[in-house]
Amino acid sequence: MTSPAFPARRLGVLISGRGSNLQAIIDAIGAGTLEATIGIVISSRASAPGLARARAAGIPSAVIAAADHPHRDACDAAIVDRLRAAGVELVCLAGYMRLVGRPLLEAYPERILNIHPSLLPSFPGLEAQRQALAHGVCVTGATVHLVDAGLDAGPIVAQAAVPVHDDDTAESLAARILVQEHRIYPEAIAFILGGGWTVRGRRVVKADAGA
Ligand code: GRF
Repeated sequence: MTSPAFPARRLGVLISGRGSNLQAIIDAIGAGTLEATIGIVISSRASAPGLARARAAGIPSAVIAAADHPHRDACDAAIVDRLRAAGVELVCLAGYMRLVGRPLLEAYPERILNIHPSLLPSFPGLEAQRQALAHGVCVTGATVHLVDAGLDAGPIVAQAAVPVHDDDTAESLAARILVQEHRIYPEAIAFILGGGWTVRGRRVVKADAGA
């Protein structure tokens, strides 16, 4: 099915930590390169520095921590309630350190994006930059993908390649990848919000693209 445009262009951003991708989204909106609003930022951790970025931008925020909910589904259901109350149409995971559960996937089918610091399907999961160094690849990168029930597994929306240097540490490589993350995430969000795309097999394509 071809995705319609998102009339309100309202995002919900889920974070757990630093929030530099959240900041890139805020900045792209401020610069007018991403036509959207952020209805709410939800953090899985009360100590996430990204919450201060939301406050500074005047965006409502909430902390919904797994520890406060007896079951995982209850936590996800609470997140769905807050997202819906904020009128969110598209959910953007930005350093969100929990697997997305069934209630959230069912409430937002093909409406959840994630950013991951590798060229998926290589190096899913934690410490993707360290995995890339350990494997000895010459090129790694960043991926924006639709979220499904798998770990960093959904259809790919955008990717950027990043060279690995001989003297790289996980930190220096992560910093180089992050520059690309901050570029491609707002671009990918704009593409998805524009509608007119469809998922063909595993591919996210413009609906009028030839088979
Ligand atoms: C980024 O590298 C992102 O790709 C990964 O977690 C990190 C989050 O960084 N999923 P930040 O919180 O957006 O600064």
